[in-house]
Amino acid sequence: MIRKSSNVAEPASARAVQRCIVPQCGAFYGTRDRIYVCPKCGGPLEVDCSISALSDGQALRRFWEARSSSREPRDISGVWRYRELLPFDDSVRVVTLLEGNTPIFDAPRSANYCGLDVLRLKHQGCNPTGSFKDTGMSAAVTQAALLGARTVVCASTGNTAASLAAYAARAGLQALILLPSGQISPAKLAQSMDYGALVCEIEGNFDDCMRLIQELGENPSIYVANSINPFRIEGQKTVAFEMANQCNWQVPDHVVVPGGNMGNSSALGKGFAELLALGLIHKLPKLSIVQAEGASPLARLFATLPASATGPDSPLPDSLAIEHHPRTLATAIKIGAPVSWKKALRAVLRSGGRVISVTEQEIADAKAMIGRDGIGCEPASATTVAGIKKLVAARHIQRGESVMAVLTGHVLKDPDYVSAYHRGTLTLEQGEKGGGTEPLAINGAFRNSPRRVEASQSAILKVLEEQR
Ligand code: F0G
Repeated sequence: MIRKSSNVAEPASARAVQRCIVPQCGAFYGTRDRIYVCPKCGGPLEVDCSISALSDGQALRRFWEARSSSREPRDISGVWRYRELLPFDDSVRVVTLLEGNTPIFDAPRSANYCGLDVLRLKHQGCNPTGSFKDTGMSAAVTQAALLGARTVVCASTGNTAASLAAYAARAGLQALILLPSGQISPAKLAQSMDYGALVCEIEGNFDDCMRLIQELGENPSIYVANSINPFRIEGQKTVAFEMANQCNWQVPDHVVVPGGNMGNSSALGKGFAELLALGLIHKLPKLSIVQAEGASPLARLFATLPASATGPDSPLPDSLAIEHHPRTLATAIKIGAPVSWKKALRAVLRSGGRVISVTEQEIADAKAMIGRDGIGCEPASATTVAGIKKLVAARHIQRGESVMAVLTGHVLKDPDYVSAYHRGTLTLEQGEKGGGTEPLAINGAFRNSPRRVEASQSAILKVLEEQR
């Protein structure tokens, strides 16, 4: 194990507080207070580690890089490797599955599809439970154990649930999971069952589950692990550290993420801001969020903001018009009332990014294009490539700029979608509440369905020839 060197500053945990992000309030609380919103004004909370007070960013950087040869689990984990910037004492027993350390891939076909010279994909689906949720969950469940919680709970569109179930199992805690009935990929549901969680299929949508979570969180033995929990965001912010580290501290011009409940975008924004405060990077990447058109409340709000309200210091709007009946086949982001929209919008505005939406067809085709680069992802992740194509067309991104898309989930998270796309049977049931009655058929523009071939070499060679 590498020992702390004397030139590395006092860890952030010594000064950390939970602070309300509402500027007129700014109240702060201890890190052991079990709260998810500001008790004074109801605003969102974030952990403030007084990062700028850490003296020597370059010393930290050398220290983290030296950990790459260590065999200690905390050094191997892509979260706990950066523990000087996390609000936990060095003595805390961390709950880890060695999350993080996810690859960055070059994606030339997807780059060409988007109109870019180069496109890189950071694949968070390569985490232990197959999605980006694991970095945050490692921190949230560590905090739950520290606070003596017996049960950890979340509302989920599937991935948060699978991740919480796994980390709770590691920590010996009971996991309680609320899922919108019939709206979750069976593969994700299967994970939660396998990790031993108590799974409740709620008759309602994700936003109904989220409302129930906020009520359940008032119970002292239950700890909420959704992204309203500021400790989860602390774990997730390390993805920004890892990305910068992998890019040799030269961050991309643009980082593009899907938007659902908005924890991921909030966390990345916080992570990059902390690196900037430490002098470890010299600019913020422009952070853009892409939503599915049928579940795009923040993109719709963003589109109404006048240019004067999109500056780095612009005040945040007070409210968001929620989408009562979100619709998308990218079920991971089928969310109409994102809880962390304020933090996410703040990160977008501070960095000069955008919030946009893409159609079901655009998501499906972008997903297939990422597949052609030999990289699988789930539908929600593909909003990034679909969105980048639009942002290039709109000249918000220039062809020669460096762009990183964050893929949030593994292709095997939703194999039914992939299969239906390639077989040409992918359809979005609109339903009366969705505003239309006819199902929306998605055309598999990059369709690749299996052929039925007679059991002979000549028949096989014939289809091979036809494909050449
Ligand atoms: N991509 C995937 C694969 C997701 O599972 C999610 C969110 C997102 C993107 C959006 O991230 O919410 O931080 O903006 N999934 C949550 C869940 C809601 O319950 O698994 P976000």
